Amino acid sequence: MQILNFTITENTQLTRDIWRVRLHNPQAERPKTGQFVNLQIDGHYLRRPISICDWEDGTYTLIYRVVGQGTTALAQLQPGQVINMLTGLGNGFTIMPAQRPLLIGGGVGVPPLYYLAKELVKAGQRPTMLLGFAREEDVLFQDEKEWDVKVVIGGYVTDGLPAHYDAIYACGPEPMLRGIDRTAKALAPGHMQLSFEARMACGFGACMACTCRTQQGYKRICKDGPILTREEIQWT
Ligand code: FES
Repeated sequence: MQILNFTITENTQLTRDIWRVRLHNPQAERPKTGQFVNLQIDGHYLRRPISICDWEDGTYTLIYRVVGQGTTALAQLQPGQVINMLTGLGNGFTIMPAQRPLLIGGGVGVPPLYYLAKELVKAGQRPTMLLGFAREEDVLFQDEKEWDVKVVIGGYVTDGLPAHYDAIYACGPEPMLRGIDRTAKALAPGHMQLSFEARMACGFGACMACTCRTQQGYKRICKDGPILTREEIQWT
């Protein structure tokens, strides 16, 4: 975990309520895919957790939805302004050995899969992305060239989940994750990782605000997660 000041290099509106911010600090360490950061926004007591969409040479790319006062304030910030960020939070995805990995994302669960797809390609894998968005105007990353992987965009990603994939990574709302778990019955044990969202306070395991029940007892989504394997999950 690092705590550093970052300089905003870009803050751009992508859709009606989705923005992309890029932040740079040359001392920033490379994060794991699936990890998140916690931003300190001036005038707001609680930091805002945002998953990592990309990282390159000390520059983080984060994609966020403007939903409340904190993210509204974040969207006002301009290049050159400085923001404090806790980085390296959460356990992150573990790259699974696979011939045909499938990455499934819903809504703002899509951006973290961008960084994961890049890492899988670097590891010599050829992932397929299945991305779902509630509204046509919300669609992100529709240019396949941007991904260098096969991308399928649809409304409900659990509809017709293909059976011939040997590893699944997914990130999105809980009903979607639950649907994937139910639908992908043929998948071998140890080959599914799901990224969960939770209300957070500290973001690094100290306050217990984000605990959830798992097959191995209670875990903190911010520190023991946000990625849980299928074998850990206990649906309620
Ligand atoms: Fe504090 Fe998870 S947010 S323990």
